[in-house]
Amino acid sequence: MDRARRLAEREGVEVTFLVDDILATRLEGPFDLILDRGVFHVFAPEAHGRYLAAVSWLLRPGGLLLLKCFSAEETRPECPPGRYAPEDIRRIFSGPFRVVEIRPSAFARPGDDDPPKALFCVNFR
Ligand SMILES: C[S@@+](CC[C@H](N)C(=O)[O-])C[C@H]1O[C@@H](n2cnc3c(N)ncnc32)[C@H](O)[C@@H]1O
Repeated sequence: MDRARRLAEREGVEVTFLVDDILATRLEGPFDLILDRGVFHVFAPEAHGRYLAAVSWLLRPGGLLLLKCFSAEETRPECPPGRYAPEDIRRIFSGPFRVVEIRPSAFARPGDDDPPKALFCVNFR
């Protein structure tokens, strides 16, 4: 949070930072957009229902969930076990969401020329 505050200050943008547990959210929507970079994939499958209920409750109808998660094509043991193929994303998110695009991506880091493989997914509520 301190790093995020410093970045916002450096860029001269006004941001409200809140800490929340998305599986027991205390946020109050509705929001137009949720960007999840690397959170969904930390949850065990048993938590997917709670995650989906929270993000769909927080988004306004027609709102956008941008999701970046580890790809099933990532094979390195040091990466977390929650890794997804496009068909997994469609199975999990279709219903509460309209999955409109799933692209191969990566968790790019400065100086890393072989970053962990990811999926970038565009979903509308
Ligand atoms: C792999 S890190 C990704 C961090 C960052 N978003 C990024 O892209 O580098 C996973 C993040 O999920 C957060 N997280 C884990 N469980 C969570 C929960 N129940 N609610 C909200 N965030 C959670 C952790 O605090 C951690 O910051």
